[in-house]
Amino acid sequence: MSFSIERYKEESRKLDTDGIDWETVTASPLSKGDLFCLHYMMDIENHVPLYLSHLLVTRACMDPILTAFLACWNYEELWHGENIGKFLNLYGIGFDTQDRIANVRANLGVQNSVSILSTMVGSWLLKDFSAVYLTIGAINELSTLTGYNALIRKSGHPVLKDLLSRIIKDERRHYAFYFNSAKEWLAENEKAQRMDRWMLNRFWVPVGQGVKTQEQVDALALYLFDDEQGEEELLGIDEKIGRLPGLSGIKLMSKALYAARERRRVNPEWAWRLIDNEEWAVAPPKRSLVGELTTRRTHAGEATAGAFEGG
Ligand SMILES: [Fe+2]
Ligand SMILES: [Fe+2]
Repeated sequence: MSFSIERYKEESRKLDTDGIDWETVTASPLSKGDLFCLHYMMDIENHVPLYLSHLLVTRACMDPILTAFLACWNYEELWHGENIGKFLNLYGIGFDTQDRIANVRANLGVQNSVSILSTMVGSWLLKDFSAVYLTIGAINELSTLTGYNALIRKSGHPVLKDLLSRIIKDERRHYAFYFNSAKEWLAENEKAQRMDRWMLNRFWVPVGQGVKTQEQVDALALYLFDDEQGEEELLGIDEKIGRLPGLSGIKLMSKALYAARERRRVNPEWAWRLIDNEEWAVAPPKRSLVGELTTRRTHAGEATAGAFEGG
């Protein structure tokens, strides 16, 4: 698996959606689980610019190759979220994309700022911080594309298959960049390898956690991967990440699945109730700052429910 930043800069572009048969989106039904996953995935794709804000304050961004990658990557990810939103709208789920994104961000609260600060401080204190960030990037991209493949399989929806297959091609390139960059950083650098392993074992969480709750993360994991094939795919991710120097035998994705299963064993309603109850709408926070932080102000007398999107 090779990656050339020069080629990537030349070839990076908006997702090509030419020829997608948008008119037949409603011709095949989707399950509640499929719809739950699509909302989750759309929100996390749309969260990329804020994730980027965490990275741009770190030491990692002294590297011009990394910032060139991030500039293109961020643009490509934008169109992943946009097109999943378009798909859901065409399927008949009405929401305003900008309101939804604003609500997701407003719900992050102060925890988001604390996280930016701690990432910034951590990166300037730890010389090898980049190794951790790059490894997490590789896991996130690989688990995202594995999740899209699992959703293609679960849903059996032809238009969704076409759309997600195109997105997967982008995610593969992203994965190649992060994996190769992490490998370069970790090669013959035992100190970085030890720190990377230690940090991943203690602080790594599945992609989306933090924006989504533990129960939402578990709902996605159990819907997509709680069968023999799904488990094998997650073990496959661990195996690939374990090929990085110093990470042999590391268990992350499979451990997250087993922990989700355990939470469901303790509480049999855990996770599935979110899917059964179609809990994929995003309400604005009770004391919403959305209107103050964006230009999307609700007018006096207009119910806050105006900013609430239904599922
Ligand atoms: Fe993406
Ligand atoms: Fe990606």
